[in-house]
This record gives sequence, structure tokens and C-alpha cells, in this order.
Amino acid sequence: MENTLYGCDIVSMQDLPLSRIQLILEAAARLKEQRTTHLLANKIIAHCFFEPSTRTRLSFETATLRLGGSVVGFSSDEALSIQKGETLHDTIRMVTEYADLIIIRHPKEGAARLAADVSSKPVVNAGDGANQHPTQALLDLFTIQECQQRLDGLAIALVGDLKYGRAIHSFAQACMLFDVRLFLVAPDSLALPESICNTLKKVGVRFSFHQSIEEVIPKIDILYMTRIQQERFSEVQYQQVGKQYILTPKMLSSARPNLKILHPLPRVNEIEVGVDLTPYAHYFEQAANGIYVRQALLSLLLNKSL
Ligand code: CP
Repeated sequence: MENTLYGCDIVSMQDLPLSRIQLILEAAARLKEQRTTHLLANKIIAHCFFEPSTRTRLSFETATLRLGGSVVGFSSDEALSIQKGETLHDTIRMVTEYADLIIIRHPKEGAARLAADVSSKPVVNAGDGANQHPTQALLDLFTIQECQQRLDGLAIALVGDLKYGRAIHSFAQACMLFDVRLFLVAPDSLALPESICNTLKKVGVRFSFHQSIEEVIPKIDILYMTRIQQERFSEVQYQQVGKQYILTPKMLSSARPNLKILHPLPRVNEIEVGVDLTPYAHYFEQAANGIYVRQALLSLLLNKSL
């Protein structure tokens, strides 16, 4: 298959039509088997994290190092010349001189697009504000394919903060490429943005709105949990809403045998630790898959053929 990803930016799911997703998932499966190769030998990857991260940053670093590449970068802007008033534009303009590819996480929506416009090297969005997190969606798809042996014909519940969750936004857009049925479980104040719902409708994805996790559990193959962000509510509201979206082992008594629970992590209290011991928990495996998917993506962006 032709490598249509070579030299590209990955800023949003718009950059990832089905053919590119298939290319990445197939390469990721090969790299998971193979473990070490030298696909990034002599390549320098800039990891520009302006916002906290555990999984995305460390899995990109592990992916880079395992493929023989080198890492430069930072995990906050505290030691950057941004503190002296330098702009994001000029910061990226410089990093593009030092590295072969830039990975950026930033608290502002649109920062990754700005970086891609400035940079002459490929830019990968590792999360921009409440907007997009496309590499999370890729590893979500890889994990679902692996644990359900398919991406079509599945019933998937998205639970929690569907309004501000960038992982959810990217994943919901990825779902538009597959024959899936979505159950959207969220308080009204954190519902999936109308623009995404309209596009889901336009492309024919069936979806419905729900207030509780229990009512959807017997109907689904994937339960995709996310954190209810306490900062979006008053203390009283959070006490009411938060409790409604806490998954407990007891709630799984009506689950299908093949159900798998995903979560982009970090979790706070929305999945009780007891759920980790059930056969349905799959979020740590999901996070581990980030290495192979990010290995595949970096390799395809920086090599004409693998
Ligand atoms: N899933 C995710 O983006 O996790 P981190 O914020 O730890 O990178």
C-alpha cells in the first residue's frame, strides 16, 4: 500500500481518512510483534509539551527511542524563552530547525494547527485544549480491533464529559468511518457538541442520548469512560452529577461477555478500582498500545516506505 502519510501533519481526524488509519493500524500490529527496529535511526523528534501528560509524552518517547530515534523537548514552558515573551509562532519556527518532526500538546485549541502552519517539518497534535487528540483515537481504534477482532458492527457507549473531552471528540469523529452504534451517556451540560452530532447524523451513524450507565451496559460491546471534570461544576452540582457516572463492579453484572471498558486516562474516581479486577477492564492495555500506534505513526510520517 502506498504510504500517503509520508511528510504529513496530523492535527485532527480530518487528516486521517480510512485508508491512512488502516495503514497505521497494520503497521502498529507489525511493530507490536516485531518490537525493535531502526525506522527512526538518525531522526530527532521534538516533544513539545506545554501541558501535563503521562501517557502521551512517555509513550511517544518510548516509541521514538525503541525505533532508534532521539528526543529533544520539554514538558512545560517554565524553562522556555516564552517566559521572556517569545510567541508560540517563533518557538515552533525555531524547533523546526532542530528536529525532523514536532509533537505538540498545548492547552489552547488551534495551537497544533498554528504549529503545523509554521513548521516545515511534520507536526503531530498530542492534544490541543478541548479540541482534538487524534493519536488517542488511533490507539483506541487499534485496541478495539485487537480486543473485539473488528471495528464494524459494534455498539459503543461514550460516558462522561463529552463536551470538553478532546479524546472523545477525536474518537467520535473516527467512529464516522465505521458501522457503529453510539450510546451517548452524559449530563445535559456536558453533552457531545452539536456540530459533532450533526456530522454523525449526516454520515448515518446511529446514536442516542442517555443519563445513566446502567441502562446501556447490557446493550454494548465497548464502554468508553471519561473523567467528569470537577472544575466545570459547583461543588453541589458535582456531587449530584459525579456520582451518576461512577462505574462499579456491581453495575457490570448485566454486561455482555465480550464487553471491554476503555478510558483514555487519567481516571480520578469514575471507575472504581475494583473494576480493574474484572475481565472487562481494558484501559491499561489500551494505554500500553499507545507505544505501537505512535511507533507506526512516526515511522510512516518519516519514511517513504516501511
Ligand atoms: N490519554 C492521555 O492523553 O493521557 P495523558 O494526559 O497522561 O497524556
